[in-house]
Amino acid sequence: MNYFIQTERLGLRNWEESDIIPFAKMCADKIVMEHFPAVLSLKETTDLITRFKKHLQDYGYTYYAVETLNTHEFIGFTGIAMQTWESDFTPAVDIGWRLKQSAWGKGYATEAAKACLTYASEILKLEEIISVCTFHNIPSENVMQKIGMQFVKEFEHPKLIEYPKLNPCKLYIFRPKK
Ligand SMILES: CC(C)(COP(=O)(O)OP(=O)(O)OC[C@H]1O[C@@H](n2cnc3c(N)ncnc32)[C@H](O)[C@@H]1OP(=O)(O)O)[C@@H](O)C(=O)NCCC(=O)NCCS
Repeated sequence: MNYFIQTERLGLRNWEESDIIPFAKMCADKIVMEHFPAVLSLKETTDLITRFKKHLQDYGYTYYAVETLNTHEFIGFTGIAMQTWESDFTPAVDIGWRLKQSAWGKGYATEAAKACLTYASEILKLEEIISVCTFHNIPSENVMQKIGMQFVKEFEHPKLIEYPKLNPCKLYIFRPKK
């Protein structure tokens, strides 16, 4: 298997046709999507995968599909992507993650995210990587802290203005040491 990034237990790769159904299942899970405006339909998930693949073509990186090395089971995504929504800290490359429930509590998100951050700073030579989570998304904020990101501020996310329960959001940043 061709991985862009490999860790002790995980492989981060491009998206495949066979990811659509398991990814749609996790994006339709209310618990996985608790900190997002809504769960996604099959079409919305398929479109999302198309966008992730296009982002890889355009920028050379994306939110990668993540699978376990031992069973090759698809467990969700982790990766980096260009964010261009309006704010005083964008455009910026962000790091993000979403795993299916059965893959939580194993340290997989932190393991994949740490490797992405190293890849972004050492291979892609990015000077700054941001991460954003909604105010109450403690598991996601924990990942940010565990991979060494620094809290910057709370802010009103322009894409979540219609969802007051999800705002304010928290901004974290990582600047590799030179
Ligand atoms: C955010 C998310 C990826 C975090 O997943 P997670 O499994 O909690 O995160 P980690 O990979 O860091 O795992 C941490 C847990 O694994 C446990 N763990 C078990 N084995 C481990 C190991 N070998 N190494 C490290 N941690 C391990 C840790 O003790 C920790 O448990 P704790 O949180 O109870 O202390 C997950 O909650 C998710 O997909 N949420 C829905 C989507 C979402 O909100 N995405 C973020 C949007 S901003």
